[in-house]
Amino acid sequence: MSDAIESVLHEDRTFPPPPAFQAQARLSSLEEYERLYEQSIQDPETFWDGIAKELPWIEPYQRVLDWSQAPRAQWFTGGKLNASAVCLDQHLESRGDQTAILWEGEPGDVVRLTYRELHAQVCRFANVLRERGIKRGDRVAIYMPMIPELAMAVLACARIGAVHSVVFAGFSAQALADRIDDGGCTAVITADGGWRRGKVLPLKPAVDEALVGREGVHTVLVARRTENEIDWIEGRDVWLGEALQAASAECAPEPMDAEDLLFLLYTSGSTGKPKGIMHTTGGYMVGTYLTTRYVFDLRDDDVYWCTADVGWITGHSYIVYGPLANGARVVMYEGAPNAPHPGRFWELCEKHGVTVFYTAPTAIRAFMKWGDEHVERYDLSKLRLLGTVGEPINPEAWIWYHRTIGGERCPIVDTWWQTETGGIMLTPLPGVTTTKPGSCTRPFFGVDAAVLSESGTELEANQGGLLAIRRPWPSMLRGIWGDEQRFRETYWSQWPGIYFPGDGARRDADGYFWIMGRVDDVINVSGHRLSTMEVESALVSHESVVEAAVVGRPDDLTGQAIVAFVTPAAGAQAGDALAAELAGHVATEIGKLARPAEIRFTDALPKTRSGKIMRRLLRDIAAGVEIVGDTSTIEDYSVLAKLRGYDD
Ligand code: WT7
Repeated sequence: MSDAIESVLHEDRTFPPPPAFQAQARLSSLEEYERLYEQSIQDPETFWDGIAKELPWIEPYQRVLDWSQAPRAQWFTGGKLNASAVCLDQHLESRGDQTAILWEGEPGDVVRLTYRELHAQVCRFANVLRERGIKRGDRVAIYMPMIPELAMAVLACARIGAVHSVVFAGFSAQALADRIDDGGCTAVITADGGWRRGKVLPLKPAVDEALVGREGVHTVLVARRTENEIDWIEGRDVWLGEALQAASAECAPEPMDAEDLLFLLYTSGSTGKPKGIMHTTGGYMVGTYLTTRYVFDLRDDDVYWCTADVGWITGHSYIVYGPLANGARVVMYEGAPNAPHPGRFWELCEKHGVTVFYTAPTAIRAFMKWGDEHVERYDLSKLRLLGTVGEPINPEAWIWYHRTIGGERCPIVDTWWQTETGGIMLTPLPGVTTTKPGSCTRPFFGVDAAVLSESGTELEANQGGLLAIRRPWPSMLRGIWGDEQRFRETYWSQWPGIYFPGDGARRDADGYFWIMGRVDDVINVSGHRLSTMEVESALVSHESVVEAAVVGRPDDLTGQAIVAFVTPAAGAQAGDALAAELAGHVATEIGKLARPAEIRFTDALPKTRSGKIMRRLLRDIAAGVEIVGDTSTIEDYSVLAKLRGYDD
């Protein structure tokens, strides 16, 4: 029992799929889900064979799964395919004139690309890469704003079999340089800059800085976007627009082995340098194709918008590869959600008739804080399905999303997954699953998920423990670039042959999963292991709180004591009285055990650029020690300085 995590969050509300939604859904009966799920677990090879056959293979695979070299799985061995052909060529006949990407820039400029046009551009782009000597297996860094050329760059690399390594455009020159070095990249694709909150975010200068002394990079392709002045190195730098115009629009897709590397994507661990997560071609395409189809219930008339940046795995899997493999209409937006005004996302939903909308809980909490009036101004009646990803969603935010955005008519899919899993793992199916606010519900097809103790025994209902995935799945990571040992240690050493995602979870009596945050974030108060996320959820349920982050600090008496960092709502009086009230509120909601020993008020919390609160930094602040470890992914350094009580 000592290693169990105590779960204290109780949420009893349930939401069955709305009948009008269910009537038209791809999957609409629980029996059907259960039958397919059983098959996917009992006989995964037959299940995945049936799905994989829907993709256009250049040469058929001989074997669905080879797990003999665990933990390195091989899926669809012997098969050949090309990810860009799966996304583009297969649709040319059936939907060549349909919109593939509907892009809007922050200033309001719109570009619409049909599947035929996108295909032609990607072919040109691929030819440009080849002319610059980039070939199959080479690594190419992509450092771009959210413009159509970013999606094209990714697909053009895939077309010639080059491995893309997208580096989020908000990262510093140093972070880019580290990733270029680690991956051994020989080319960079970038832009002069991008628009962000009405300002130019210059990118080319950061690339120039990153490349000082890096002679291995022979080519920098530069898209024109913001027209800012940039330096130019003759011979190395190439204007993308001009090169595309001069290139042929024909380029046969390179036949890639199912297990050939498709991309690297770096994810930061809680300690040490970022890990280059490796994803290969066949399994990743099968996984993202199927999850997009069923989780987002895509239909031919849908207008689908995932608000993530292509710099994150969510953008790879659910802006580019998954939706395009399904022939979807994909909305892509360059800018921030609150520029030039806090209703910008809803304006876009109305303007483009968005039907399926996928965003992050951190964004939802920001919308709540900005006020309903920015939502109510727009017609959101076309929306039929909502999704969330990235962190546990607190029930208050879930209910707000359901009412204010979804008009109580749209199912919400709370999707749990990771950079490493490549695609969605735990999720409702919107026409099937009765949802519970705060739960990512049940496993997707082929996902054998469980809650285990540290020693590997399966825990009983409602006992908090460690989330585990007991079988390989097609879109799983194949390794960490250049560090096999770290791959084995991080993910496969907790229990033999079982994947350890690093999250705490419990499963309720209905078999629903409730993610309790990263295991690194668990606090131990007087021998009780508590999930920080549940204490945060209790704090946020108070009307005076917008956001909260909870960490443990060493305490002589209790082992650890709870410290809460709280962002007060507009109009709330931060101070001792509110702190006492909040501590009392947590005690009522959860129990005295969880009462914070200290509450600190702050305007903002330190977050990664993907919106995740950086609790390990807060832990150091709470303990009053120097911050150690990687801070390169923090979004706004001034937040950190303020929290520590000085500006640096
Ligand atoms: C970690 C993975 C997957 C794309 C975005 C993040 C947390 C993710 C949920 C969810 C609770 C979630 C987990 C996971 N997480 N989705 N629906 N409910 N927690 O990718 O940066 O690789 O982070 O995000 O802790 O391990 P990532």
